[in-house]
Amino acid sequence: MNVSRKYPQSRLRRTRFTSAIRNLVAENNLTVNDLIQPIFVKEGLDGTESINSLPGINRYGLNALDEEIEKIQDCKIQAVAIFPVIDPSKKDELGTESLNEDNLVCEAIRQIKQNSDLAIIADVALDPYTSHGQDGILDKTGYVDNDKSLNILSDQALTLAKAGADMVAPSDMMDGRIAKIRNSLEINEFFNTIILSYAAKYSSKFYGPFRDAVGSSSNLGVGSKDTYQMSVANIDEALHEVRMDIEEGADIVMVKPGMPYLDVIKSVKDTFKIPTFAYQVSGEYAMLKAAIQNEWLAEEVLIESLLSFKRAGADCVLTYAAKEVASKLNQ
Ligand code: PBG
Repeated sequence: MNVSRKYPQSRLRRTRFTSAIRNLVAENNLTVNDLIQPIFVKEGLDGTESINSLPGINRYGLNALDEEIEKIQDCKIQAVAIFPVIDPSKKDELGTESLNEDNLVCEAIRQIKQNSDLAIIADVALDPYTSHGQDGILDKTGYVDNDKSLNILSDQALTLAKAGADMVAPSDMMDGRIAKIRNSLEINEFFNTIILSYAAKYSSKFYGPFRDAVGSSSNLGVGSKDTYQMSVANIDEALHEVRMDIEEGADIVMVKPGMPYLDVIKSVKDTFKIPTFAYQVSGEYAMLKAAIQNEWLAEEVLIESLLSFKRAGADCVLTYAAKEVASKLNQ
């Protein structure tokens, strides 16, 4: 690799001369296969409802879901990540509704399966279902109890697998959840259900718009998730988390948020060389969209931002811009 080539033998601008040549030497490409669309379904909603802090993104009632799924499929996107907005009256301390086999998300999964070939990713965490908005169960002091939470989380994962989810995606950050879920899936003969682990999930302020979208922010109030999600200062710890999750049975690992954590994506991919997804989270999308809407930035920044994930080594990106970017890529 010790090549010494100086100007004018080397003119790096030669391979930038025309668009055709630039395309030929491109080191990374973004395709529709790299994009996963998150989608919010809301209980009891007739039609759709916009979300203030996520321009262009809606909540869908079950009666509006088929049409949206058809649009996503038309864009040749391969997968959706589904997030439920459940009726507040169904929330309790234990997130019991998460285990109801006929709950909103299970209904939505069955409906999507009936009408499409999309791969479905379903989140494993209790925050849409708990009255306190935390991802697990609280002990008497209000601390999220790791080992008590594991049982309900693995039951939730099984419920989602039974409904037809192709991938269950634990986003709760409890220790030991992957092993527990993998074991339960094996015992119940869900041999091909993929565990997409939110392995390195940071305690980030970039999740704000998502929490508004699913209606968990008011439940969470001033509460934080710092005792289970990772400190934003750490990267060695992310590799430790990923290693544990792989050893416990994760098929795919995820880093989240995305753009502010490209270093983590790169380290994870370089170190473990297994399928690695990234989540361009709600706050990242909101920032880009706000600037685009104000005409402070050109809309091409969306594709530029997604290419940065590819450069870092991500195999796939969950992004609210998936559908919009996919239609551009298809043009
Ligand atoms: C639930 C969950 C969150 C996100 C995905 N799954 C929020 C949180 O952990 O508070 C965030 C996604 C986004 O911001 O787009 N555990």
